[in-house]
Amino acid sequence: MTRPDAARPGAPASSTGPSAELVLVVDFGAQYSQLIARRVREHRVYCELVHHSTPLAELLARRPRAIILSGGPASVYAKDAPRYDTALFDAGVPVLGICYGMQLMAYLLRGRVERGDRREYGRAVLTVTDDQDLFRGIERETQCWMSHGDLVLEPPPGFVVLARTANSPVAAFADRCRRLYGVQFHPEVVHTERGRDILGNFLLKIAGCRGLWTPEAVADAAVREVAERVGDGRAIVALSGGVDSSVAAVIAHRALGDRLVAVFVDHGLLRKDEPETVIETFSCRMGASFVPVRAADRFLKALCGVRDPERKRKIIGEEFIRVFEEEASRLGLVPGGALVQGTLYPDVIESGGTHGTAAVIKSHHNVGGLPERMSLTIVEPLRNLFKDEVRAVGEELGLPPGIVWRPPFPGPGLSIRIVGPVTRRKLAVLREADHVVREEVERAGLGRRLWQYFAVLTGVRSVGVMGDERTYGYTVAVRAVTSEDGMTADWARLPHDLLERIASRIISEVPQVNRVVYDVTSKPPATIEWE
Ligand code: XMP
Repeated sequence: MTRPDAARPGAPASSTGPSAELVLVVDFGAQYSQLIARRVREHRVYCELVHHSTPLAELLARRPRAIILSGGPASVYAKDAPRYDTALFDAGVPVLGICYGMQLMAYLLRGRVERGDRREYGRAVLTVTDDQDLFRGIERETQCWMSHGDLVLEPPPGFVVLARTANSPVAAFADRCRRLYGVQFHPEVVHTERGRDILGNFLLKIAGCRGLWTPEAVADAAVREVAERVGDGRAIVALSGGVDSSVAAVIAHRALGDRLVAVFVDHGLLRKDEPETVIETFSCRMGASFVPVRAADRFLKALCGVRDPERKRKIIGEEFIRVFEEEASRLGLVPGGALVQGTLYPDVIESGGTHGTAAVIKSHHNVGGLPERMSLTIVEPLRNLFKDEVRAVGEELGLPPGIVWRPPFPGPGLSIRIVGPVTRRKLAVLREADHVVREEVERAGLGRRLWQYFAVLTGVRSVGVMGDERTYGYTVAVRAVTSEDGMTADWARLPHDLLERIASRIISEVPQVNRVVYDVTSKPPATIEWE
C-alpha cells in the first residue's frame, strides 16, 4: 500500500525547492501563516511551513538559510502556549520572529513581555530608530499592521530596539551577533506598506539568500523528482486539461518520455463541451500516449442519492483511483506503477495534510479524498507550489496561454456545485447556466482578472411568474471571485449590466431556472465553492 505524502504528518518535502535556499516558517497557528511562505517565495527563496511540534534537530537537518517564527493566537503566559526549543537561538541560523514569534523569543530569552489585556489591532505608524539592516532603505515613518495581545516592553539582554509605534515601545528588535530579529507587526500583510522590503532585507541581506528559486529551477527540480520517484518504471499521469494537471503532465513527460501515459477521466461532472475539447486538444498533441476514459456512468451511480459534500469528495477520490488502477493494469503498469497528479500546496493545506495547525476545511479530492488502499504510488511534483507559481512554471515549460491561464476547476467538478444529490437532470441544468456565466464574463473581457466565475445550482426552488403563469423552478447562484491563490478570496464587483445580462440569459435559455442570485460573500467566511 502506498499513500501520498500529503496524508502523512511530517512527510518529507518534495525536491521542488533547491535546498540550498530553504527557509522554514515554524507555524504557531496564525490565521495566515501560509501568507508568510508566499511572501518569502516572492523573493525567489523557497519556503515551507512546519508545525511547531517539529523538533529543532529535524529543522536543522534540512539546513535552512533562515527560520521564521510565525504569529499565533496564544499568549506566551497561557498554560498550553506553544513554545520552542531555546537552542534554536544559538544554532547559528538567522531567526525572524513575527508577532507571537517575537514575543516568544523575548519571553524565552528573558526580555520583558507584558500580558495582553488590551489588544492592538489595525494600522499603526512605525517609527524606525535603527535602519542598519532590517529597515535598510525604509523611511523613518511608515505604516504597519498590528494584531496582538501580548506586548514586548523590553528586549532581552544583548538586543537593541530597531523601531517603535505609539503603543509598542519595542516594535522591532535585534541581536545582531546571533542574527536574531523580531517584529511586533505583520510584514506579510499588504497593509504593512514596506513589508515586502523588510522581509527582503531579512532574507537577502541578513540571511544571505540569493533568490535562486526561479520557475526554471523549480521545473528542473520537479523533473528530477519525478525521474527519481518513478525510477526505471512506468507511470500514468491524471490529466484533466486544467493548468495543474497539464503542467504535471509536461514535467512527467520530460522526466519519463514514452514511459508515461496520460489518462483523462470523463467522470460526467465536467462543464459543457469540456470532455470533447480536452480529448481533441490532447489527442492531437500526444497521440497514442493519451488515453481518454468515459466513466460517467460509474461515477454517477456511486454518487446516487449522496448529499454530504465530504462523502461526495471521498467517493470521487476513490472512484478516480479505481479507474486509474484499472487503466494502469490494462496498460501493464502494476505492480509498482506510479500515478502523477497535479496536487497543489493549498489542496494539501486545506485537506489538513501539512502537519500544521490548519483545520480540515475540505478534503480536496486528490489529497484527503483518496482511499486508504491503492496499488499505485502517488507522485505529486507540484505539491509545494501555489497556483501562480504553477502558472509561472507552465509558462517556463512553454504551455499555451489558453491552458496556463484557465481558471481553476475543482477535481470533483460540478458535483460540488450542486447542493444536495447529483442527478443527470440537475447536471444538465447547471451546465447550461454555467455556460452562460462563462460566456458573458469572457465577452466582457473580465476572465483574466477573476480567479473563478461559475454557476451553482442551489438546493432551493422558488415561485416565479413567467408569461402570466406561475413557475416553480431552480435558483441558480452566480459566483465570481478574485484571489491570489484560492486560500482567501474576495467576491468580484461585477458590473450590474453584466449581472443583468447573465440573469436574463439564464432565465430565458434554461427553462428549469426562474431565479438568479449573486453570491456576495468573500472567503473567509465562505469558501469559493459551495460544497
Ligand atoms: P474552496 O471552495 O475550498 O476552494 O474555497 C479553493 C480552490 O480550490 C478548488 N477546489 C478543489 N480543487 N479538488 C480540486 O482539485 C477539490 O476537491 C477542490 N475543492 C475546491 C476550488 O475550485 C478553488 O479554486
